[in-house]
Amino acid sequence: MFKTTDTLNSECHPQPRVTALLASGDNFMPLSWHMPVSKSPFRYAVAIRNENKSYEIVKQTKEFSLNFIDFSYAQTCEIAGSSHGGDKFATTGLSQKHAHKIKSSLIEQAYMIYEC
Ligand SMILES: Cc1cc2nc3c(=O)[nH]c(=O)nc-3n(C[C@H](O)[C@H](O)[C@H](O)COP(=O)(O)O)c2cc1C
Repeated sequence: MFKTTDTLNSECHPQPRVTALLASGDNFMPLSWHMPVSKSPFRYAVAIRNENKSYEIVKQTKEFSLNFIDFSYAQTCEIAGSSHGGDKFATTGLSQKHAHKIKSSLIEQAYMIYEC
């Protein structure tokens, strides 16, 4: 009934954490390590490994969008999480849209988006 594992590999990511898509510039990556840390002032914590292209973009632009998607996009997350950079909108079929307050992309399919 349950699959068990002793290692933190890709099978551990989609559950039980809710995976969001962190978009920076024209790139995006699935992100499971994120959480709200303060209501007022509003603060939201994300953990991005420094080997990821997104790390460099966020460090440079000091902004990103956090796009919340439902679990039906689990496979899409696996695809987006298997490459560094490239045209992930093309490889996943997700749609890009413009943000109100930042230059980074937003993801059309998200049910809620934070512009950070
Ligand atoms: C479901 C899932 C969750 C992930 N969560 C994180 C995360 O919280 N932090 C992180 O640094 N990488 C995470 N990754 C790995 C990155 O998404 C992956 O390395 C991605 O290719 C980085 O893309 P980039 O190099 O274009 O930024 C996750 C991958 C998957 C599939």
